[in-house]
Amino acid sequence: MLSPKSAETVRATLPAVSGAIGEITTLFYEKLFAAHPELLRDLFNRGNQANGSQRQALAGSIAAFARHLLDHPDDRPDGMLARIAHKHASLGVREDQYPIVREHLFAAIADVLGDAVTDEVVRAWDEVYWLMAHALIAVEKRLLREAGVRDGAGWRRYRVAGRIEETDEVATFLLRPADGAPVPASRPGQYVSVQVQLPDGARQIRQYSLSGQPDGGLQISVKRVAAGRRPGGPGDAPAGEVSQYLHTQVHGGEILYVSPPFGEVVPSDGDGPLLFASAGIGCTPMAGMLAHLAATGSRRRIITAHADRSPATHPFRTDLRRLTGKLADATTELWYEEGARDEEEGAERAPGGAEDAVTVRTGLMDLTQLTIPAGTTAYLCGPVPFMKAVRAQLLEAGVPSAAIHYEVFGPDLGL
Ligand SMILES: Cc1cc2nc3c(=O)[nH]c(=O)nc-3n(C[C@H](O)[C@H](O)[C@H](O)COP(=O)(O)OP(=O)(O)OC[C@H]3O[C@@H](n4cnc5c(N)ncnc54)[C@H](O)[C@@H]3O)c2cc1C
Ligand code: HEM
Repeated sequence: MLSPKSAETVRATLPAVSGAIGEITTLFYEKLFAAHPELLRDLFNRGNQANGSQRQALAGSIAAFARHLLDHPDDRPDGMLARIAHKHASLGVREDQYPIVREHLFAAIADVLGDAVTDEVVRAWDEVYWLMAHALIAVEKRLLREAGVRDGAGWRRYRVAGRIEETDEVATFLLRPADGAPVPASRPGQYVSVQVQLPDGARQIRQYSLSGQPDGGLQISVKRVAAGRRPGGPGDAPAGEVSQYLHTQVHGGEILYVSPPFGEVVPSDGDGPLLFASAGIGCTPMAGMLAHLAATGSRRRIITAHADRSPATHPFRTDLRRLTGKLADATTELWYEEGARDEEEGAERAPGGAEDAVTVRTGLMDLTQLTIPAGTTAYLCGPVPFMKAVRAQLLEAGVPSAAIHYEVFGPDLGL
């Protein structure tokens, strides 16, 4: 809890800090990376820094945390802290790096807000920063302990034991611990961080969801981010560094550095209905969750909804039908923007499944076309505009917002 005096100062200065968050963020990263170039090379995602659109997550979350402390002084925003802590744990963020971030963040705030930053203001925001930092450090330590990581980051060497081309753009990589030790425990829906050394020597890290449960290994599926125009983007963007590297340089036999599995978007326990709604490469955590439910003989009512450009761009298209057929009470609903082949349009039987276990439609996903069972817990993954639209459809159908969970394949600016 914030002291009453600091709460008053934070309340008075929060509008100014929030209003200048873009400027503060830019200056913060400039100062941080000037003093510690190794952090940009080997820890932060330099693609996110270069495209500029997602830099506000860190400073923005501190402003959001401050707002939460003011509005709900007796309560901690555990959901927000958990998402950040899981990400930090997977990246190997260390406790001794928190004072470094604090130093450059506060220097940026002082530069941007000038004389308004009195000693009293610094003291108040310091309290906010360390309340949040200590909460994160505590969760990160617990997560690393639970993952069996003793000192520092939990990077382990994995050998690429196989590669499967799912579509022209998506490849699955099968990873086995290079030392032959058992694979770490994971929960369906979790992700790993993968660190690769790029041609200029930088060690860049990206997260990839576990897309299945192979024996004795881990499985990730990566979409190649090609060069070109991005929706809403100004012009040509370069190819994604790590996805391109994995697609062009990793064919089997290579060693990759991989973190233990982390992530808090995992299916609820119990026997209530589940709905998985994904678009494009957002199907990877869903594939992992569905494989787990099928392997454990789940009898829950499960709807898997997926949207893609066309059947040819849809990864796990065949696996989805196979898993739907294996589950006692599952249906699959597919939407293809460019339409399906005529023989696929409409309802069909999944292998071993009910008569109308798979339904194929043309167009964008529209969950109002389905009957959503009462008590459904929903999991969303895909581009942010897709998740916003689907969330609105679910709220409209009476699914409470607390029962709608989502995974963002990038910094979560909704935090
Ligand atoms: C929890 C989580 C799970 C994920 N799971 C998966 C998964 O299962 N499968 C999967 O494929 N991905 C997944 N991702 C996304 C993945 O981590 C990477 O973000 C993705 O592979 C792209 O990384 P990249 O290195 O190829 O692209 P980056 O190099 O990081 O580039 C990202 C974007 O920035 C643009 N960019 C880079 N530099 C510039 C510049 N100078 N100017 C303008 N634009 C620029 C690029 O064109 C690209 O569009 C997940 C992400 C998270 C957070
Ligand atoms: C109180 C202090 C901190 C806060 C509030 C904070 C907050 C955040 C948030 C909100 C994200 C985005 C999470 C997501 O949605 O994916 C993030 C990611 C990240 N954080 Fe922190 N963070 C803090 C400290 C640190 C420190 C000390 C480091 C290490 C120097 C660090 C390194 C990173 C990295 C590397 C990422 C991933 C971003 C990327 O690769 O683009 N953070 N942090």
